[in-house]
Amino acid sequence: MKLELRSISKTFHTRRGNTYALQEITAEVASGEFVCLLGPSGCGKSTLLNIVAGLERPDAGVVLIDDQPVTGPGRDRVMIFQEAALFPWLNVRDNVTFGLNVAGLPRSEQLAIADRYLERVGLRGFEKAYVYEISGGMKQRVALARALALDPLVLLMDEPFAALDAQTRDLLHTELQDIWLHSGKTIIFVTHNVREALVLGDRVLLMSARPGRIKREFCCQLARPRQIEDHALVDVAREVLADLREEVMAAKQEVGSERLAA
Ligand SMILES: Nc1ncnc2c1ncn2[C@@H]1O[C@H](COP(=O)(O)OP(=O)(O)OP(=O)(O)O)[C@@H](O)[C@H]1O
Ligand SMILES: [Mg+2]
Repeated sequence: MKLELRSISKTFHTRRGNTYALQEITAEVASGEFVCLLGPSGCGKSTLLNIVAGLERPDAGVVLIDDQPVTGPGRDRVMIFQEAALFPWLNVRDNVTFGLNVAGLPRSEQLAIADRYLERVGLRGFEKAYVYEISGGMKQRVALARALALDPLVLLMDEPFAALDAQTRDLLHTELQDIWLHSGKTIIFVTHNVREALVLGDRVLLMSARPGRIKREFCCQLARPRQIEDHALVDVAREVLADLREEVMAAKQEVGSERLAA
């Protein structure tokens, strides 16, 4: 599987005016690669991920999966959002089987798959719990199990750990690396946190302030499993942070001038 973004551009037109969100984004993601998209708030990361997911259409350019253009959502790609977006009226296990049920799998197979992935994300024993009975970190684990159960080629993760406390996030970083190493999934992970990007990614694509472009690319070859406080990682992070800071400042200035113009 090869995923290609070719010259993707996107402008949003609203009553308040136009927002030039993405400008000619070109990138390739290899099968089994873990790529992080890093950039300041509002630079177009979610927009780009939504375009890859097929939830949003680019104005120009194309996303290709194995040379086939993406024209909408598909079972080969699954999105995981910042808020787990679980079904509150279903228990943990039924949240995971939901998509398998829609796909028409026999119930016994659905349950076997759900329990396998719930075990994988450390939720054994919580199958019958309801969403209101579990913590934020557990909700993200359910969302991950639900995505993995569909066995997609590509996992698209939009700041999935941003709302979690630091300890839970660190734990999930370790677990996600482990899951990725064992499943061979292709992952595109959006974050605005430099160290998170370096803990997880083989490659980090740094986006510029809006309109989002790929400003620079960093390869991260540090041994796994990585921890957010690893010395070597902190050294690389310093370099990336200097670049990101420039973009954060540029983004701030732009918001300032938009306010003045309004
Ligand atoms: N549906 C929409 N309609 C109008 N404007 C939009 C829409 N979606 C996004 N935008 C604008 O496009 C720009 C990029 O938004 P996007 O959500 O992709 O940024 P982001 O990098 O994900 O930011 P954050 O890190 O805060 O999540 C923003 O200026 C946003 O206001
Ligand atoms: Mg976003």
